[in-house]
Amino acid sequence: MELTGDSSSKGNRLVVKNTRASFYEMLMCLREDLDRYMLLDERAWWVIILTCQGVWVTAQYRFSRWVKCDCHVPVIRQVLRLFCAISQRVVVMLTNCEFPNTAQIGKGLLIPHPYGIVIHQDAQIGDYCNLGQDTTIGIGGRKEKSGVPILGDRIFVGPGARIFGKISIANDVAIGANAVVTKSLEANAVAVGIPAKVISYKGSQDFIIYRQQK
Ligand SMILES: CC(C)(COP(=O)(O)OP(=O)(O)OC[C@H]1O[C@@H](n2cnc3c(N)ncnc32)[C@H](O)[C@@H]1OP(=O)(O)O)[C@@H](O)C(=O)NCCC(=O)NCCS
Repeated sequence: MELTGDSSSKGNRLVVKNTRASFYEMLMCLREDLDRYMLLDERAWWVIILTCQGVWVTAQYRFSRWVKCDCHVPVIRQVLRLFCAISQRVVVMLTNCEFPNTAQIGKGLLIPHPYGIVIHQDAQIGDYCNLGQDTTIGIGGRKEKSGVPILGDRIFVGPGARIFGKISIANDVAIGANAVVTKSLEANAVAVGIPAKVISYKGSQDFIIYRQQK
């Protein structure tokens, strides 16, 4: 996923795209998300859609982001925005997960246990990431140091982890359960503890399972 690299509201600007093409793009992202569940779960795709709350959370986020950024049909856009605002509150009530449609999240997101995940509205998350339950990706720091994390591709975020501040997490990083990450991490780092320290550079490859594209 192409991230803007600037986690401020200004940097996280919306690029105007064609309504139909972007809708198709959104469906493709959802297909990648679903595919990650299907690799772990032998049940049929429609059973996964009906029963996995992680899919519901992601689908709500993706649709709502499409409506916000790329749906330009007058009236329909207003109606859909209202629908998205209500459906987002329903998702929050059911799962305590907050995925604002202003955050940028790449394809192939896996949320095995979607409970209590909070993502800041300016956060950026790359492709094929895993988010554990009760994780927070939020704002931190004072004055000019204030900012929101930018996560690269294939990041494993263990349950209960907190990642905050103006930091960037490079590709293939694994963040341990309950870690508190306040400093940037290099590619393939494995970080655990409070404050999080790098214990190895074995990366996240063993924890991130997705269908490799040819
Ligand atoms: C961070 C993590 C991905 C690293 O995995 P790994 O690279 O295979 O590392 P290891 O498990 O071999 O652990 C290496 C060392 O870090 C310690 N460690 C691992 N995870 C830790 C954590 N979350 N907090 C503190 N220390 C941790 C281990 O005890 C071990 O210490 P030692 O070398 O003194 O024995 C993994 O430990 C983790 O936290 N996974 C989340 C698992 C989980 O929560 N599962 C439930 C999902 S619902």
